[in-house]
Amino acid sequence: MSAKERLIIFDTTLRDGEQSPGASMTRDEKLRIARALEKLRVDVIEAGFAISSPGDFAAVKAIADSVKDSTVCSLARAVRPDIERAAEALKGANSGRIHTFIATSPIHMEYKLQMTPEQVLEQAVSAVRLARNFVADVEFSLEDGSRSEFGFMCRIIEAVIDAGAGTINIPDTVGYGEPEEYGRMIRRVIENVPNSDKAVFSVHCHNDLGLAVANSLSAVLNGARQVECTINGLGERAGNASLEEIVMAIRTRKDRFPVETGIEISHIVPTSRLVSSITGFPVQPNKAIVGANAFAHESGIHQDGVLKHRETYEIMRAQDVGWGANRIVLGKLSGRAAFSSRLEELGITFDSKAELAAAFGRFKELADKKREIYDEDLQALVSEVQMAEGQEKYSLVSMAVTTKTGRAPHAEIAICVDGDNHQVSADGDGPVDAIFKAIETLARSDTSLQLYSVNAVTEGTEAQGEVTVRLEKGGRIVNGQGADTDVLVASARAYLNALNLLTTPGRLHPQMEGV
Ligand code: KIV
Ligand code: ZN
Repeated sequence: MSAKERLIIFDTTLRDGEQSPGASMTRDEKLRIARALEKLRVDVIEAGFAISSPGDFAAVKAIADSVKDSTVCSLARAVRPDIERAAEALKGANSGRIHTFIATSPIHMEYKLQMTPEQVLEQAVSAVRLARNFVADVEFSLEDGSRSEFGFMCRIIEAVIDAGAGTINIPDTVGYGEPEEYGRMIRRVIENVPNSDKAVFSVHCHNDLGLAVANSLSAVLNGARQVECTINGLGERAGNASLEEIVMAIRTRKDRFPVETGIEISHIVPTSRLVSSITGFPVQPNKAIVGANAFAHESGIHQDGVLKHRETYEIMRAQDVGWGANRIVLGKLSGRAAFSSRLEELGITFDSKAELAAAFGRFKELADKKREIYDEDLQALVSEVQMAEGQEKYSLVSMAVTTKTGRAPHAEIAICVDGDNHQVSADGDGPVDAIFKAIETLARSDTSLQLYSVNAVTEGTEAQGEVTVRLEKGGRIVNGQGADTDVLVASARAYLNALNLLTTPGRLHPQMEGV
């Protein structure tokens, strides 16, 4: 038996992570990530904010119905409609949690909520009581906790624990905290709240000053026993504390931390890749643990040392966190049975046989162009098939692009719009510009292109290019994705995908609206 206490890993990639501008995901994509998080053995999956849109509700419900080994959680503001909606979405969960919150800092109470501290306290207690009518597991968050007044924070925490909250989360919502000060505050709260032994104390840190992981770890050293974090540090603005960094710091510096996590670390890199591919947010090469260079040794001196004795320069092993786990799984001769069985192993299911048939057809097309098909290729093609089955407005039928030195590139594209085929063409400064201009002659979307990026899905010149196109319209931002061995085809798909996302309804943001 280990003498160490368990640190609860609460993953909020699907909720706070999705609040990154343009990171919105479909229900099916969220389900795939949730299954990966379950395999990673996270303790709690925050699946979404059920009231924010019908799509979010459907995603929380699908995850609650399918995930069995992790607790599934929905966010809810401290108001009846949010809590009832969260409870409804979580009905099928093996273990469901309602996470309700209200802001407690003077600045948020006065300007955002326009409520007195007494009103906030009363509303927090009622929300927790109401949530307890639906589930036994209720978490309460003091939004902007790190800028809240200490005495008020202790009063509200004591009251919500009495009302039945089992987890108390004190977020550093705006990423203002500094490790020493934040850790000390967590310790003081635990020491000052008379019934603090009846709850688990949790932290949720944003990375505006690059201190999210340091603040979270400092809180752990000072008594926090739940950390809220995201894969690749995705999240609102500069992001949240990164799950992989927290977990590997706790594990690598066992000598410093009195806790351990239940995370299956060999799934870290595959999960990171999945999240990056679905959201279109690439991982920077020098990102700790999951960046392409995290275990690469450039300088001769380092290489020499590592070859003689690994520990001279390496404090973790690349294989332990899942590097090298992208197996060559399938090829041209693989049949439907091998294809479906690998998808099942990856936690991918389809709603209909037609969807599976479409995915298999797309796989065969890809296998004709690319000898070795990796898990990442399968993930990318499944995203496309699931989107296509979601009755998109725009889809690519065919395209031809001509480029010649000294002549403007020219694109001719056949696009299906609501079931009818249209032929469009345009010249551009480059081939991608010509493609986008041609599409716009038809779509006239009135959007602005904010980002265009290409990443290789796997290694080698045969790899599929995965293109992300970020469009903005009236303040709403979407990220379209497309993958193909031909990056121009991938670019057209990504642009059309972004236009399709703009035709779906927007969502309510949990923190921007008054309660
Ligand atoms: O950053 C924050 O305060 C949040 C809360 C809703 C927990 O995301
Ligand atoms: Zn947050």
